[in-house]
Amino acid sequence: MKRMRETGLIVAVTLLSLVQRNTFAQQVLIPIETKSNALVLQTDANKQVGIIYLGPKLADKSEYNQVTAQYKQGSDYTGVSNAAYSTAGTRNLFEPAIAVTHADGNNSLDLQYVRHESKKLDDNTSLLTVFLKDPVYNFEVTLFYKSWFNEDVTEQWSEIKHSEKGNVILHKYASAGLYLKAGSYWLKQYHGDWAKEMQAEEARLTHGIKTLDSKLGSRTNLFQPPSFMVSLDKPATEDEGTVLYGSLEWSGNFRIDLELDNQDNLRIMAGINNYASAYTLKPGEVFTTPAFLSVLSTNGKGEASRKLHSWARNYKILDGKGNRLTLLNNWEATYFDFNEAKLKELLKDTRKLGVDLFLLDDGWFANKYPRNDDKAGLGDWQENKNKLPNGIASLVKEAQANGVKFGIWVEPEMVNPRSELYEQHPDWVVKQSARPEYYFRNQLVLDLTNPAVQEHVFNVVDNLFTKNPTLAYIKWDCNAVIYNAHAAKLGNQSHFYIQYVQGLYNVLKRLRAKYPTVPMMLCSGGGGRVDYGALQYFTEFWPSDNTDPLERIFMQWEYSYFYPAITSSNHVTDWGKQPIKFRTDVAMMGKMGFDIVVSHLKENDLTFCQEAIKTYNAVKPIIWQGDQYRLQNPLDNSVASVLYLNTQKTAGVVFNYLVNNRYDAGSQLPIRMKGLDPAKKYTIKELNVYPGTTSTIDGSKVYTGEFLMKVGFNPDVKNGRNSVVLEVKAF
Ligand code: DGJ
Repeated sequence: MKRMRETGLIVAVTLLSLVQRNTFAQQVLIPIETKSNALVLQTDANKQVGIIYLGPKLADKSEYNQVTAQYKQGSDYTGVSNAAYSTAGTRNLFEPAIAVTHADGNNSLDLQYVRHESKKLDDNTSLLTVFLKDPVYNFEVTLFYKSWFNEDVTEQWSEIKHSEKGNVILHKYASAGLYLKAGSYWLKQYHGDWAKEMQAEEARLTHGIKTLDSKLGSRTNLFQPPSFMVSLDKPATEDEGTVLYGSLEWSGNFRIDLELDNQDNLRIMAGINNYASAYTLKPGEVFTTPAFLSVLSTNGKGEASRKLHSWARNYKILDGKGNRLTLLNNWEATYFDFNEAKLKELLKDTRKLGVDLFLLDDGWFANKYPRNDDKAGLGDWQENKNKLPNGIASLVKEAQANGVKFGIWVEPEMVNPRSELYEQHPDWVVKQSARPEYYFRNQLVLDLTNPAVQEHVFNVVDNLFTKNPTLAYIKWDCNAVIYNAHAAKLGNQSHFYIQYVQGLYNVLKRLRAKYPTVPMMLCSGGGGRVDYGALQYFTEFWPSDNTDPLERIFMQWEYSYFYPAITSSNHVTDWGKQPIKFRTDVAMMGKMGFDIVVSHLKENDLTFCQEAIKTYNAVKPIIWQGDQYRLQNPLDNSVASVLYLNTQKTAGVVFNYLVNNRYDAGSQLPIRMKGLDPAKKYTIKELNVYPGTTSTIDGSKVYTGEFLMKVGFNPDVKNGRNSVVLEVKAF
């Protein structure tokens, strides 16, 4: 797990080792400051590195020295309860970040400060490196804190290595720890299942350990994602309160422990799940953990997510500032039942609708065991000769003739037992050969710890591009979890879950080296797989198979805390009872696509969609790159409202929906906007007006930003106007 070495000039080596060694009595203070906040580390007389502060930054750095004295919380019997990276087997009595068995069988670890370095990587990004070492064993841990000044975002990870006389077993190897002090802590966490992703729960943390984790191996977020937030003192609202967002950048098993200790402080420990994963570290080998991401805001959840969105678009997501393609997908229009003639008609519909690309979904491949349902064929990536006698190439050509691009679905990590791939390579499949196979959606997972399998998966995608160089989009699906975890060719089975993800990342890295910008959707039958580790390779993700727009308002609302709209693939489908306008409006709050039978649309519905796509093309830069303000929550209100506003505050789009169909429900009160320039004058015009209807909004009226934010604006949402999209424009 080699992380690319950070490059850049060492602007300041804050303290030389020699000087540092002499200053222990005075304690070395290491503040990591961003625009608004500071995470402050400090060494003690025993060379332990502790976290003494996480909060708004102070103007005078030296005052951090006085922080600790202000807390009178009783005894810390360990002296290390605030450890930056807590160990097991010595003084620590709490959840450790790291636990090891040394080469000689000893289970103790003490990590002492050696030195630290600060590098400025660019105008906005800094990297702090803290070197720790055990005084008894040749065992070292390096802690990394990468911070983005303007966004107040920090990534933390660690490197673990040793030069003992034999292997060391790592029982636990967290990415990072944080330590918070407050009167109370409120955890907002998520759970879910297929079609029910991102169900939120918020509750006060009680003493002891609350663990968020996954042991699913692949598509690990099916029941729980690695993202959460903790509010201090009281649950933060959109605009008030202190809140820390956290997320692990890892697409495999994760474990996040939140431990409220005897002194009422909160320890957060996040990393790869050590479940069934004791890691044998050879002398000289470096184990690099994935990054744990956090952002702190003292102005509520809205500001925290806008900071995170901006960071994600600028620094993390593949092509985060780039373009995305609108599309027509055939999954729900045809399922597995299609042929060349049918697809050629859909290509014409793609043009007629006015979207950029046609996306051919599951069912186009396999011959011996044709992929006519989800029971067979997965793994055999040759065009099915009955359905596509002239191959994908002829469809790509036809797409070109229609002036649209062509994209394709793959699920390259998976295999049906009824497939030629399984017959030819039974040892490429994750299974316990002495035990009965157990399936998830009739399929098994390929063993990505095996380099031959990595090569195969790479080739599945690479061959598609080689044969069809104009292929413009990949939907990368992943529907099964891992049961019976066992890899035939892997020496140490305890490394399986870790090496599976590393194998996947190897493939994705190779693909991205060859195809750096082609858009790829991260899909796993819903939100079973989205994290910032994966989004370095993908341009977008599939939040859920549940595309009922009413459900989506809630789900997209929750996803939007962590992921910017540009990453959210929202398709207009036939799920739900809402009219096409409602469905299209909801899909616009992200990266829009369609998965409907265009030829079944009534004339007005088709006209509406065609016009809506043109409107979307005009406003999508605001939705994708603007700041998102969640104005009115669908859980507590009859009308949900979300605003996207460009950074110049001159143009915005507000989406309003009736989410309650009780008698007389509607926007009785004006909805207060946010983020506008109070001094600017704005007009408000309704977008996506259904053909034959008239907007009740007077687009000629002028309002100051102050008025729109203090008094608000009534979108006139009511039964019959269930979904209202407004354009806010300064002049
Ligand atoms: C699950 C995805 O979420 C669907 O959109 C579709 O691609 C199916 N897999 C195909 O099997």
